[in-house]
Amino acid sequence: MPKNIKNFQILISEEEIARRIIGLGQEISGFYNDNSVIVIGVLKGSFIFLADLVRRINSDVHIDFVGISSYAGTQSTQDIKLTRDLSINVEGKNVLVVEDIIDTGLTISYLQKYLVEKKGAREVKTAAFLSKPLARKTTCVVDWVGFEIGNEFVIGYGLDYNERYRELPYIAIYKE
Ligand code: IMP
Repeated sequence: MPKNIKNFQILISEEEIARRIIGLGQEISGFYNDNSVIVIGVLKGSFIFLADLVRRINSDVHIDFVGISSYAGTQSTQDIKLTRDLSINVEGKNVLVVEDIIDTGLTISYLQKYLVEKKGAREVKTAAFLSKPLARKTTCVVDWVGFEIGNEFVIGYGLDYNERYRELPYIAIYKE
């Protein structure tokens, strides 16, 4: 892996991630049991977390994705846009939104409202791989969190800096 890692500091290792995903999968499977759930990944950042997580959920899983854009560089723009809509009808269904990271909370609040009010989902739960509780600009409910971190900007495991570093198998702190 020929990467320039001089700006990186590993925060969460591959091994820690693998262990936590098993735990999250058990908790989520225990919650849904034999019921079906539509798992909605928020593109692009959630794609690796979602792929690992659904393989640890024993319930009846359907998968879809939404695209949301709100970030430029390391800054949230607060201007949230739906760039890709659902392809599955979620009306009256249980939905689990899978997010890479909850930062200000604006994206997840927007999406939770959208899925209930516009799409008629019966119940919306949220699983986030990372959460930055100190960065919240709105109150939002996150049902399962992989790891809580500080306000540092992180990359890897699906998370990017200007579309780079999503493929890193660990979470690292990015320093400009
Ligand atoms: P929020 O709306 O501020 O909660 O931001 C959520 C989105 O911002 C996430 O889905 C990420 O795409 C992006 N984001 C927030 N913090 C980071 C970070 O530290 N690294 C990479 N992307 C981030």
